Amino acid sequence: MKDALTYAEAHFEDFVGELEDFLRLPSVSTDPAYQDDVRNTAQWLVDHLKSLGVSSAEAVPTEGHPIVLAEHIIDEALPTVLVYGHYDVQPPDPLDLWESPPFEPVRKNGILYGRGTCDDKGQLFMHLKALEAYLKTEGQPPLNLKFIFEGEEESGSKHLPGFIEAHKDRLAADVVVISDTTLFAPGVPSITYGLRGMAYVEVTLTGPDRDLHSGMYGGAIENPINALARLIAGLHDDDHRITIPGFYDNVRPLTDEERATFRSLPFDAEHWAGEVGVTTTKTEAGYSPLEGTSARPTLDCNGIWGGYIGKGAKTVLPSKASAKISMRLVPDQTPEEITDKIRHYFEANTPDTMTLTFTDLHGGYGVLVDTNSPAMEAAAQALEGVYGRRPYFTRSGGSIPVVADFKNILGLDSVLMGFGLDSDAIHSPNEHFGLDRFQEGILSIIRFMSLYSNRS
Ligand code: BES
Ligand code: MN
Ligand code: MN
Repeated sequence: MKDALTYAEAHFEDFVGELEDFLRLPSVSTDPAYQDDVRNTAQWLVDHLKSLGVSSAEAVPTEGHPIVLAEHIIDEALPTVLVYGHYDVQPPDPLDLWESPPFEPVRKNGILYGRGTCDDKGQLFMHLKALEAYLKTEGQPPLNLKFIFEGEEESGSKHLPGFIEAHKDRLAADVVVISDTTLFAPGVPSITYGLRGMAYVEVTLTGPDRDLHSGMYGGAIENPINALARLIAGLHDDDHRITIPGFYDNVRPLTDEERATFRSLPFDAEHWAGEVGVTTTKTEAGYSPLEGTSARPTLDCNGIWGGYIGKGAKTVLPSKASAKISMRLVPDQTPEEITDKIRHYFEANTPDTMTLTFTDLHGGYGVLVDTNSPAMEAAAQALEGVYGRRPYFTRSGGSIPVVADFKNILGLDSVLMGFGLDSDAIHSPNEHFGLDRFQEGILSIIRFMSLYSNRS
């Protein structure tokens, strides 16, 4: 392991240069205009894996974007780690807010800027460089490795569960490792043991069959935007709890121990809010902001539109109003159950002057991973080796639905060893990744491989 660590430190500049090549490929999965770029990115990964000397690597076509599968098996008697990552990225919009072009990575003060630097190309790439460090020094990694790199994570992973189901044997392993989450803070390591699930819906209220003059009709024809705003406002009460009947029925409560851990974490909510230009936080009554963003379910309107939104004033009573609404779920809520419940809320409350169109966009299950496993302990020791302190075990508010699929389809737990920060601006303009964390991630993964291969 020592030689691999030394190699990774010595070749760090080369690693960053290669990552920049990877980042220049605009692999935006949600927009069909980038379809060829996404395919080229998958091929770039295959070529890169082959250049490292792995025993097999291919880009497997799906109905959507390709899935990259690779493996390096050295000895059936050794444990096998399945590494998951996603090579697709979010759209770069709004472009005018980027200080440098999103697909032309630049380094400034030890930080690499560009779409995908943190989510997830930079973090995925750490796993390839950790493997390279072993291959170039010791000839082999200390365990068997399999890789599955997805190109549709940012657009709902439509084809992934079926693919995992169809490739069960090829994906067989002892544990999954994923670097697509955050550290607790710079220099403060953490392992994520919980992720939230998701239920994402779109609603449209239609009133009159065309936009109307608001003077001639306002007062007797009900306005869909007014009505939708009322319905959305009614989704929360004054305690910032969600009012959908039955919404909390299946929520697994926080244990006293978990709540004590949350309280012990060094977290300054005002400072954290200040980083995004807000002076204070707002959480469901009875819970801390940290609990609110990770261990409690939430509901957010993601977009709302209808009527006239051009320049100046146009007096119009609109025909339609629409909104996109996402709910972050916790175990043991299910996306199916929650989607039914919110559908029922809208059906029950749509004014009789209007019709409702309701679309289920996508969903995913939340997870809680057992923290007492040999893989978790190996990860904790690996992080301790790099950061000089034990990691915290934290729950994250984001969603990686494949973690539940790995558990349900392959029976595998995932170790979420991520190196992002909340302030890395993932999904936002000027996404970035500190090169110190890119380095720390590679060193942690090298250590993890060695520690896990010697697991008891
Ligand atoms: N890497 C993120 C998820 C994440 C971010 C987890 C930060 C923990 C901390 C992932 O790429 C992502 O954006 N997921 C989506 C999933 C959705 C499309 C189902 C999300 O969380 O919005
Ligand atoms: Mn991600
Ligand atoms: Mn993402």
